[in-house]
Amino acid sequence: MEILNGNEPASIEKALAILKGGDIVAFPTETVYGLGADALNPYAVAKIFEVKKRPKFDPLIVHIGDREWLSDFAGHVPAEVIRLTERFWPGPLTVILPKRSIIPDIVTAGLTTVGIRMPSHPVALNLIKALQKPIAAPSANPFGYMSPTKAGHVAKMLKDRLSLVLDGGDSVFGIESTIISCRDGRVHIHRHGAITVEELEEVVGKVSEKREDGTCESPGELPFHYAPSKPLKIITSMDEIRNRSASLLAFREPPGEPGVKHVRVLSPDGNLRVAAANFFSYLIELDSHDVDVIYAEKIPEQGIGKAMMERLRKASKKYHPEAGI
Ligand code: TXA
Ligand code: MG
Repeated sequence: MEILNGNEPASIEKALAILKGGDIVAFPTETVYGLGADALNPYAVAKIFEVKKRPKFDPLIVHIGDREWLSDFAGHVPAEVIRLTERFWPGPLTVILPKRSIIPDIVTAGLTTVGIRMPSHPVALNLIKALQKPIAAPSANPFGYMSPTKAGHVAKMLKDRLSLVLDGGDSVFGIESTIISCRDGRVHIHRHGAITVEELEEVVGKVSEKREDGTCESPGELPFHYAPSKPLKIITSMDEIRNRSASLLAFREPPGEPGVKHVRVLSPDGNLRVAAANFFSYLIELDSHDVDVIYAEKIPEQGIGKAMMERLRKASKKYHPEAGI
């Protein structure tokens, strides 16, 4: 596997040749790194599922190069969604809309809807515009694992399973896009992400975070998503640390010595955006140590903190009772 500087035109050319040849490349976005294929080529898209070992029922996000492309791939676009895309595109917002038949069924796992976003990372945009077609891309991690925010993460996680990673530096948001849909004028959140509830509500008023039947989430968002390989336990105080052979993901600077093997502090002064940018990178690092358990300090559930807690809760569901945590 090769890692090339995505800012060099020659690297984009190389990635483009791979995509045109029906193969896949990893590329940077402002949220996390993506594993991309020509969204209109079902054989190329099938390779994404193979490489990630991703179940076929989990639909992919389609990344477009310009707002104008939206109507080529989606049917009716509600006024609320238009306002949101005007405010947040290019950027970390994915909108779920009725799909046009030009999008192959494998991309949307047979659903009648498609998730679309226009990323803001210049390397991602350059690649999509050079292809002149949308790129279907999930996060570039093995299914169920944490999302990569550096080219080096992708190289480690997917090693010999693909030939090229475009390096565009660290992902600035560090958390995946927010996924929304709109029905009867009401915006629903399917996945909390880099655009906060507060930001959405400034544009469209009150949004709903869960459907009454609790099934608002996206089909691929399984209860144990985003999990490290070690058991993870969320704690509110250092007194809850039972096992000292542990890694600790602290939100702020801990008041005293936590007494565990490895500690990472997401943001010493408690800045949520800074914490999000470090979130997956620190968790991936803490997971690489030889410890029994990862303790994660609870993060305030405001702003992008909601997205981090959504991911920590899912990670903690993969509880291993033998760890004595
Ligand atoms: O920030 C991001 O969104 C990153 C970058 C690469 O763009 N991508 C990403 O993709 O996080 P992925 O595949 O890891 O997560 C996409 C989520 C999945 O949980 C999937 O179920 C949901 O989006 N999704 C995609 N299409 C959908 C649809 N039509 N309806 C409901 N959920 C959908
Ligand atoms: Mg993912």
